[in-house]
Amino acid sequence: MADPVKEYDGAVDKGLEGIVSCTTKISSILDATLTYRGYTIEDLTDHSTFEEVVFLLWNDRLPPADQLAKLRTELVANMTLSSETIALMKALPAKTAVPMDYLRTVVSSLSMQDADSRDIDADANHRKAMRLTGVMGAIVAGFHRIREGKDVIKPDPTKGIAWNFLYMMKGERPTDELAKDFDTCLILHADHELNCSAFSARVTTSSLSDMHSAITSAIGTLKGPLHGGANEQVMKMLVRIGTVEQSKKFIEDALNAKEKVMGIGHRVYKHGDPRARILRKMSDRLTAKGGMHHFYEMSANIDDIMQEKKGLMPNVDFYSATVYYTMGIPIDLYTPIFAVSRVSGWIAHILEQYTNNRIYRPRGRYTGKLDQKWAPVDKR
Ligand code: COA
Repeated sequence: MADPVKEYDGAVDKGLEGIVSCTTKISSILDATLTYRGYTIEDLTDHSTFEEVVFLLWNDRLPPADQLAKLRTELVANMTLSSETIALMKALPAKTAVPMDYLRTVVSSLSMQDADSRDIDADANHRKAMRLTGVMGAIVAGFHRIREGKDVIKPDPTKGIAWNFLYMMKGERPTDELAKDFDTCLILHADHELNCSAFSARVTTSSLSDMHSAITSAIGTLKGPLHGGANEQVMKMLVRIGTVEQSKKFIEDALNAKEKVMGIGHRVYKHGDPRARILRKMSDRLTAKGGMHHFYEMSANIDDIMQEKKGLMPNVDFYSATVYYTMGIPIDLYTPIFAVSRVSGWIAHILEQYTNNRIYRPRGRYTGKLDQKWAPVDKR
């Protein structure tokens, strides 16, 4: 029998660090600069809207006014949940559900209402992309309403996704200023090269499965605390620490116990995450305005300690936590909100994967036992 260890003796790269598994034209991380389709995120957050970024990610160009208006209208129309979806959502145990489990389940179920679910041609994919990107925020907002025993709210067609998400979650019309800040957060989370969940969406797509399946895989991947789940852990940590004075000891104790500090470190950025720089300024401003600047000060203190002691810098999840907190968003919705934005990037990756596909099938070097002999159950 061939020895599988010898048969495949290529280098093992745990976590695939530095492995290039595809070419992509969607987003790039070069040094400490993140671009979507060649535009820096600083440029996009200064001048763009989330809907414009969605168009950019999917079409490789910025939209003219009429195409942007059409896309925005269509996306927001898709924020109206069907009666079937609302019935399913009410049947699920919203009060006790882990929000990401709930989101994953509802998104997966949507394929059964989608006439295009089996088709993976360009037109069908475009229609599904619009539906899934619009509906994601409606599911997260609707989930929160349902678990609070409140009615699901319909979107205002004159407003965009960010404004409508806040409105549909809280039941109050947000100020344009608040919606603008939230829109900036959506832009910052939209895509990030071959991150763990985009990779999982691409792996699912590579078997020529459908978009709902790929997005469902991606939601399950984003949920983990080493990926999108970190933002919730950051806020829980800050609440637990309580005061700026206590943050130093808390972090030192965590490091001595070899625990990871959430929201810190990154596989690719070693000199800082540009998204964190933008969110840090926003956190400073919004916490001051909301009378909770101590959360920013605590974060800045932890940021300094981690740089000094470990040479590690904050990632996107670190300052977004306090930003969402000031916006009155429940902590357990931070990761679902990540999905509300990242669905646009996942879809860009899914579409790109379909156009240049080869099934993902790496090897694992076998290090288990060989030559085992089966024995009947009473002889083991
Ligand atoms: N707190 C404390 N130590 C950390 C750390 C953190 N947040 N992140 C990394 N390290 C340490 C590791 O313990 C390891 O130290 P060692 O070499 O002494 O064992 C070293 O830095 C390398 O970390 P590693 O986990 O191997 O890096 P990775 O590239 O596999 O993982 C992350 C990257 C982002 C998953 C990792 O930094 C992490 O877990 N961060 C916290 C979770 C988080 O914020 N995730 C969101 C990512 S956007």
